[in-house]
Amino acid sequence: MADRLDTLTQRARRVLTFAQAEAQRLNHHHIGTEHILLGLLAEGEGVAAKVLTHLGVDLKRARSDVEFLAGRGGRPVAGEIGLTPGAKKVIELAIDEARRLHHSYIGTEHLLLGLVREGEGVAAGVVESLGVTLKNVRAEVKRLLGPTTPIPATIIDGKAIAEQVRAEVAQRVAALKQRGVTPGLAVVLVGGDPASVSYVRAKGQAAEEAGIFSQSFHLPAETPQTELLELIARLNADERIHAMLVQLPLPSHLDEQAITAAVDPQKDADALHPVNLGRLFKGEPYLLPCTPAGIVELLLRSGHPPDGKHVVICGRSNLVGRPLAAILMQKRKGANATVTVCHTGTRDLARFTRQADILVAAMGAPRVITADMVRPGAVVIDVGVNRVEDASRKSGYRLVGDVDFEPVAEVAAAITPVPGGIGPMTVAMLLANTVTAAEAQAAGEEGAS
Ligand code: GUN
Repeated sequence: MADRLDTLTQRARRVLTFAQAEAQRLNHHHIGTEHILLGLLAEGEGVAAKVLTHLGVDLKRARSDVEFLAGRGGRPVAGEIGLTPGAKKVIELAIDEARRLHHSYIGTEHLLLGLVREGEGVAAGVVESLGVTLKNVRAEVKRLLGPTTPIPATIIDGKAIAEQVRAEVAQRVAALKQRGVTPGLAVVLVGGDPASVSYVRAKGQAAEEAGIFSQSFHLPAETPQTELLELIARLNADERIHAMLVQLPLPSHLDEQAITAAVDPQKDADALHPVNLGRLFKGEPYLLPCTPAGIVELLLRSGHPPDGKHVVICGRSNLVGRPLAAILMQKRKGANATVTVCHTGTRDLARFTRQADILVAAMGAPRVITADMVRPGAVVIDVGVNRVEDASRKSGYRLVGDVDFEPVAEVAAAITPVPGGIGPMTVAMLLANTVTAAEAQAAGEEGAS
């Protein structure tokens, strides 16, 4: 809740200051809904005061009614006093009312709406006796402020930005070729998971388009671990191959840790080898994991640098959440974010997601991030790619992200689509890693000769 108080208008802030002063004046050792109402009535000038006046409320009389009902405490207040659960609820509801009205601030009118909606305690009794209802307050707010239409979020075009990255990669490939080095990428897939098959195909194709030598290895699902390790060892020794990846997830009989650790860290296109992850966590990265690197690149190139922002990441996977947190917390330009990582153990997820300037959904569950979980004006990055049934499609399914796209796009300032957001960026960053690995290996050989 406190995270949203920076969007309070000056008048709304004053209402809360008045609420505290009223509580202290009445020797009450808490700030309750009745004090917020007293604050609203005392403020007297904001939209809430206008609404109440238009609804026939005499502000002065209402104030003495509330004061009479609330009564006076015996002992004077010493020290700080806190909000009651009811008062906290009023502020939560005020935030929700602002969101529903597509307002990017929280004003006195939203506090009034929150108070009426909360509907309990002394304040609710007074409000009801004055004939003030949620319906007539909402109608009056709309009449006073005019219709508010949502400003749709900017759609961050991952495909177009990935094209830029790929064009830059192609230039670096050409420069390497002039030095007699053709960057080589090997992609290994075990089993026939349809999504993985299509990702691996896209990666191979993109590599070829950038002028990278690309080799794909499609092994049967039952391939023994020793056989896969042998292939990795061969690729480690193959001078034509500067980078490789083993597509994840792997069939359950294969040990993912052992497989990622078998890749030569110099050739680790995914940057998932413990050495590369260790370097990243120390702040001395060689290569960066592709999806997190793609997210950061997309943020920078779309004009949403993470520097100084609060980034909330939902999901702690080794592929996305964990390394993304490590990248974003680094002390350098293009990172320098305050990072919160939420996961399946997080209680009240929405409490955290609503604090995000940049919200990254990487949970792998369809449309779990709903509009009420997003702060108006936030940037939303959707990493999820989920297949959901769709009888109207020839395939019988369609792809959706982890974000409930349309409603969230009405609240957010910018959002990535699925497909066409993070997916193409992951591929582009794989190509960039391949070229970085080839450049590093070529420099090493040049240095050695
Ligand atoms: N599966 C989904 N994304 C990735 C990725 O970036 N790398 C690998 N190896 N497997 C994945």
